[in-house]
Amino acid sequence: SKLLDTDFIGKPVQLHARLDSTNTYAKANLSDLKNGDVILAHEQTAGKGRLGRNWTSPAGASISMSLVLKPASPFERLSLLTQLTAAALIKALNDWGDVKIKWPNDIILNSRKIAGILIETEFSGSSLEGIIIGIGINTNVDQENIPQELQSKATSLKEGTNREIDPNTLVASFLTFFEKYYVDFLNSQRPAPFLSVCREQSILIGKNYWIIDTDRKRKAYIKTIDSTGGLVVTYLDTNKTEVITSTDLSIRGD
Ligand code: BTN
Repeated sequence: SKLLDTDFIGKPVQLHARLDSTNTYAKANLSDLKNGDVILAHEQTAGKGRLGRNWTSPAGASISMSLVLKPASPFERLSLLTQLTAAALIKALNDWGDVKIKWPNDIILNSRKIAGILIETEFSGSSLEGIIIGIGINTNVDQENIPQELQSKATSLKEGTNREIDPNTLVASFLTFFEKYYVDFLNSQRPAPFLSVCREQSILIGKNYWIIDTDRKRKAYIKTIDSTGGLVVTYLDTNKTEVITSTDLSIRGD
């Protein structure tokens, strides 16, 4: 499409009426996919979220896509890709509303989640076969179609902005920002531009939150996001400052 101003990201975008999960599909067909290919599904029947959760993607009312990367040299700082993806999403979504990010991967509008990112890697032996960046966006989901237990936590772009969203424009805009940040990062090894977006739009920085790990729960002051994409926090009980890089934990307010 003319909207898509990229060299290799989204060239092509494969469209599917219905898949179990675009990530699962990309994984299963990885050897046939090339760097930058995008898998997009109108509907997902078994969408995957972080931490083993399900992700519901109602037909025609949400965007479900997976972007395949096959970097020439192994990626040292995979965690940065989540922040890069989030920054590109924020820039694309900013045309519709003042979206924020809750580190590491929740995209927020009016204090409720509208999009999430799930990155998976596939190895054959010790060599990286590909990276699959899964993105789910609640575009035109009506609030009453959001599952009861998520009503207070999730919303859609349409509910948050009172505007119907054109998915083609949004996807093209996201892919264009993504390529810009990605190429700049590969060439310069300088993550600053996209990390600034994540810092500026962070809902966590400058406030206290509970950091909930498998075995404990501690309150911390959130200082910043560092140059590796990690979350810099000072625990209130010990006054020690640490960088959190694992994304397998939850961060909660009171
Ligand atoms: C999360 O916030 O927990 C991450 C949600 C990621 C959902 C997307 S939808 C497209 C891709 N395919 C999947 O099965 N999951 C991701």
